[in-house]
Amino acid sequence: MDVHSLEQAALAAVAAAASTDAIDAVRVEYLGRKSELKLALREVRDRETGMSLNAARMRIESAVDERASGLERAELDRRLIEERVDVTLPVGGHARGRLHLITQIRREVEDVFLGLGYRVVDGREVETTRYNFDALAFPPGHPARSPLQTLFVDDETVLRTETSPSQIRTMESREPPVYIVTLGRVYRRDTPDATHTPVFHQVEGLAVDEGITLADLEGTLDFLLKALFGQNRRTEFRTHYFPFTEPSIEAYVSCHVCDGGGCPVCRYSGWIEVGGAGMVDPQLFEFVGYDPERYSGFAFGWGLERIAMLRHEFPDLRELWRNDLRFSRQF
Ligand code: DAH
Repeated sequence: MDVHSLEQAALAAVAAAASTDAIDAVRVEYLGRKSELKLALREVRDRETGMSLNAARMRIESAVDERASGLERAELDRRLIEERVDVTLPVGGHARGRLHLITQIRREVEDVFLGLGYRVVDGREVETTRYNFDALAFPPGHPARSPLQTLFVDDETVLRTETSPSQIRTMESREPPVYIVTLGRVYRRDTPDATHTPVFHQVEGLAVDEGITLADLEGTLDFLLKALFGQNRRTEFRTHYFPFTEPSIEAYVSCHVCDGGGCPVCRYSGWIEVGGAGMVDPQLFEFVGYDPERYSGFAFGWGLERIAMLRHEFPDLRELWRNDLRFSRQF
């Protein structure tokens, strides 16, 4: 074997290697276990040949190492340039989430009452019949006590049918003056249609103090209605019946579409019904141990879905549950 020409061939191959893969192949071919050089080294018999083979091996090795590290560096440089991320580029196209309409209205109502000095309290969605019906003076045999209308967990436990039980729990846990609102889900055994869903939301308000009158109730609801529907709205209150208020009223707001002139939204009456209210029946005070001679109070309970529907004039309540972004994004 001609060591010199082998070395020349190896160095030429090193110089020609243009990638780390190519230089690895050169290393295997000229320095690997089965390379001509290694085989020759294994068979060497005299010192001189051994020295010259070894010297050639070392020169080839260092040429290969040098070339390999040069190629590695070049490849790294190229990758760094090619794969560079420009962190200053605008991202674009990221959709921003938004709150569900009911959550927006819930927060709006909370803000109105926090501004009036009320507290926002939590209620329970699973209630006993004692709090959901008895304490609120629902007479025995009232249709709401039937499993046809109410979702029972067991004989004495229901999914609350209204937020009103929170009135009782609040009064039991603190002394007057009480100024609270509580907002949350309520449940009724209704078949879903355009104006009913078995789950919906209510806001319940309660004020108990010395000397509270119906005028305080009407003033408060007038304030809330204008905050929700616009300052130019007029309000009207008509008598009604609820087991837990005496007198009971229902609140109406002048139609925001026709301003009271009459249109399909208000069914040509000029007025839109928003929800129930009344002066707290003294029976409730007796239940919680308040002195009915000393204290009086008002309460109201309205549906948030109804407020949403009236304000935004969409015809079907079920839209609020469909999670169709084309609907939700409008608000
Ligand atoms: N709980 C009633 C309902 O769900 C609404 C209501 C009416 C609540 C009058 C009240 C009230 O607090 O005073 O239909």
